[in-house]
Amino acid sequence: MENLISLVNKLQRACTALGDHGDESALPTLWDSLPSIAVVGGQSSGKSSVLESIVGKDFLPRGSGIVTRRPLVLQLHRVDENREWAEFMHLPRRRIADFGMKFIFDLLANVRKEIQDETDRETGRTKAISSVPIHLSIYSPNGNWIIAVVNLTLIDLPGLTKVAVEFLTSILCFITAEGQPETIVHDIENMVRSYIEKPNCIILAISPANQDLATSDAIKISREVDPAGERTFGVLTKIDLMDEGTDAVDILEGRAYRLKYPWVGVVNRSQADINKNVDMIAARRREREFWANSPVYSHLARRMGSEYLAKMMSKHLESVIKSRIPGLQSLISKTIGELETELSRLGKPVSTDAGGKLYMIMEICRGFEQIYKEHLDGIRPGGDMI
Ligand code: GDP
Ligand code: NA
Ligand code: MG
Repeated sequence: MENLISLVNKLQRACTALGDHGDESALPTLWDSLPSIAVVGGQSSGKSSVLESIVGKDFLPRGSGIVTRRPLVLQLHRVDENREWAEFMHLPRRRIADFGMKFIFDLLANVRKEIQDETDRETGRTKAISSVPIHLSIYSPNGNWIIAVVNLTLIDLPGLTKVAVEFLTSILCFITAEGQPETIVHDIENMVRSYIEKPNCIILAISPANQDLATSDAIKISREVDPAGERTFGVLTKIDLMDEGTDAVDILEGRAYRLKYPWVGVVNRSQADINKNVDMIAARRREREFWANSPVYSHLARRMGSEYLAKMMSKHLESVIKSRIPGLQSLISKTIGELETELSRLGKPVSTDAGGKLYMIMEICRGFEQIYKEHLDGIRPGGDMI
């Protein structure tokens, strides 16, 4: 399984690289078929916080107001070395904080700063929102990840908002991929939709418990793209911020708003915690205590919290990948065929950049086929993996 998922992720990365360079090929179809996890929800609902806590590392810019202003496509990689580093696609071959593990704090702070700087570079410090994604890979030793599944793509998205006034007062605008500034709130919604409408995007729909669920942007947009709720997971944040005398038991037990998968409640770090640099380990311990010691929620403690959410995602992802293998296999065979045509059109031997990339992707595809043949022939559609 590990080899397979790792290969799937390499493929996804290669497809992204190719797509970004505007090369024409059948690969967008392939990209669409691979699973990733995206967070959606209203402004400051806790999207970046949830993403960080399922990753188990704090490196994302977070805070009140509109902090996430470009999509962040994050790839998590497990490595054998006892080292941890990060790479941005816009800084090729540059490892960020490629030090020993004890410098981990610097690494994460540097990553966070580079996300902020790169956001500003694109949006020109106007605090605009841009649809151009930032691609980040984080490499960490085995067992260092909270999310048990191997290499994984996660997407942090700017928040949805219904309140146009908020945008006007903060002089926000939206910059499209073509660099055209727009002032329309709908453009942000469309951009978010373009990520989560992909059939293989697992949606973490983030709603804050201190707001009315009926007005949740996360629920609204995820229902739109996934009406049957096949790939939507409801996450309720800010349970610690609910008004005294109210609780979220009806939601968490699935009575207030029914979803296909059970709701997961989380308690992320507050703004005060962020300001005080409360670390992830302390935050997680406190969250565990919150669930266990709460008279209202202790009966649900076993299936609540960030750690549980990460485990749930891992399990779900694995089952999705297993079920998609046969389809992916035939898609890859088709892609190899198309790549061969493309390469012969470019003429061999190929020395151009485009040719090099195609070769790289074809190699990955072939590797995939090989693994499929060696290990996965025992898969029957709908059956268990051997
Ligand atoms: P995003 O805008 O949806 O990405 O939200 P962020 O993750 O940036 O969080 C927005 C603000 O809400 C930050 O100040 C967080 O500290 C705070 N926050 C997020 N989740 C929780 C939570 O569960 N409890 C508390 N008390 N604060 C939270
Ligand atoms: Na925010
Ligand atoms: Mg955010």
